[in-house]
Amino acid sequence: MKQNNMIVIYKSSTGFTKRYAELVAKEMGCAIEDYRNVSSGMLSKYDIVIFGTRAHAGRADGFQKAKRLFEKSNISKMILFVTGATPNAAAEIVETFWRQNLSAEEMTKIPHFYMQSGLCYEKMSLPDRLMMKVAAIMIRHKKNKTEQDLGFEEGIKSSFDNSSKEYIEPLISYLRTNAQYNKK
Ligand SMILES: Cc1cc2nc3c(=O)[nH]c(=O)nc-3n(C[C@H](O)[C@H](O)[C@H](O)COP(=O)(O)O)c2cc1C
Repeated sequence: MKQNNMIVIYKSSTGFTKRYAELVAKEMGCAIEDYRNVSSGMLSKYDIVIFGTRAHAGRADGFQKAKRLFEKSNISKMILFVTGATPNAAAEIVETFWRQNLSAEEMTKIPHFYMQSGLCYEKMSLPDRLMMKVAAIMIRHKKNKTEQDLGFEEGIKSSFDNSSKEYIEPLISYLRTNAQYNKK
C-alpha cells in the first residue's frame, strides 16, 4: 500500500544511511528526500517523518537541526533511525548512544531504531578521515585495553560493510503495527 502521509528524510555522507533510507521508503511505498533539500513547508504535507542519519562520534548527526526543522512544520510524528559501525549485538553501547542523544521525554515520544552499517574510507570526507586517524592513534596508545577497545581498534583499521536489509525489519514492523500510520 502506498503511504502518502509519510516521508523518509536522510542525512548520509558515505551512503550507508541513504541505502537504508531507500530500503525503508521502498518497503513502505512512501516518499524519500535528501535532508539538504527539505524545508519545513515541504514537510508540512506529511504526518510522519522518518529521519535517518549516522552515528558520528557518539552523536546522531544533524538530529538537533532536524528537530528544529520538524518543529516548524506541522508533522505529528517523528521517527528516528541511526546507522553506525557498532554492531547491533552491542546492545549496551547502542543503549548508551540513545541516552546520550535523546532526553528522557524523547526516549518515550520518538520511536528510535539502530541499524548496523560499516565504514567506508573511500567515500569519507577529509575531516572524517582525520577524526578516524586520531581515534586510531588514541586507541593504539591506550593502556589496559578492554575487550571493547581491542574490537574497536581492529574494526576501524579498514573499510567494511555489515549492513543488511534485515536491520530495517524492527522499524518496518513498528510502522505496520501502528494503525494510524496506515491511514492516508
Ligand atoms: C568520524 C566518524 C565517527 C563515527 N562515529 C561513530 C560512532 O560514534 N558510533 C558508531 O557506531 N559509528 C560511528 N561511525 C561510523 C558511521 O556511523 C557509519 O559509517 C555510518 O553508517 C555512516 O553513514 P553514512 O554512510 O550514511 O554517512 C563514525 C564514522 C566516522 C567517519
